[in-house]
Amino acid sequence: MRIHVADHPLISHKLTALRDINTDSPTFRRLTEELVTLLAYEATRDVRTEPVRVETPVSPADGVRLSSPKPLVVPILRAGLGMLEGMQRLLPTAEVGFLGMIRNEETLEASTYAERLPDDLAGRQCYLLDPMLATGGTLSAAIDFLVERGANDITAVCLLAAPEGIARVETDLGGINVPVTLVTAALDDKLNEVGYIVPGLGDAGDRLYG
Ligand code: PRP
Repeated sequence: MRIHVADHPLISHKLTALRDINTDSPTFRRLTEELVTLLAYEATRDVRTEPVRVETPVSPADGVRLSSPKPLVVPILRAGLGMLEGMQRLLPTAEVGFLGMIRNEETLEASTYAERLPDDLAGRQCYLLDPMLATGGTLSAAIDFLVERGANDITAVCLLAAPEGIARVETDLGGINVPVTLVTAALDDKLNEVGYIVPGLGDAGDRLYG
């Protein structure tokens, strides 16, 4: 898995405010959107384009436009929904699919409770949105879902990632011959004994939606 830790002072600034226990839900939601827009800029660095020619008021000009098929953005419910608007700000024409996944807080295993994705993802650039990559079970299962539909170009956008989760996703990806990129605002220290990222920002779903 290719890992890109977005290193920018504005990203660090917004992430610090997100981590702060005193940041309330409305502010947390707004900061998440802003942060995701900055991460989306990094995550879409390889978005496919095709040449196009336009007329400026002065002369013809060569440019590019996004190619077909349109990129697919997939927030992982619930917390990933808080990232959708920030991503759509940069990719307003992207199609949106949904995956509902929940992590059992005792076993830490992820399970899927909802799914709305196009049937055939071959040739689509897919962007998975999930704020936290903790044990990696959720992201790994989400990648499996996309690969089963034929996806062969996947980028995960996370606010935070733990080393244990990255290792798990890389192990699980071992048998899958699909390039996956992770774009994250920070690589944190570790997981604690109950599977929370340390220092982290707490439970992103709860902080976004209560
Ligand atoms: C959280 C988080 C990720 C997942 C990460 O979701 O938003 O989806 O856990 O954990 P993992 O890497 O150990 O699998 P949660 O299950 O709390 O659901 P929610 O988004 O509905 O709050």
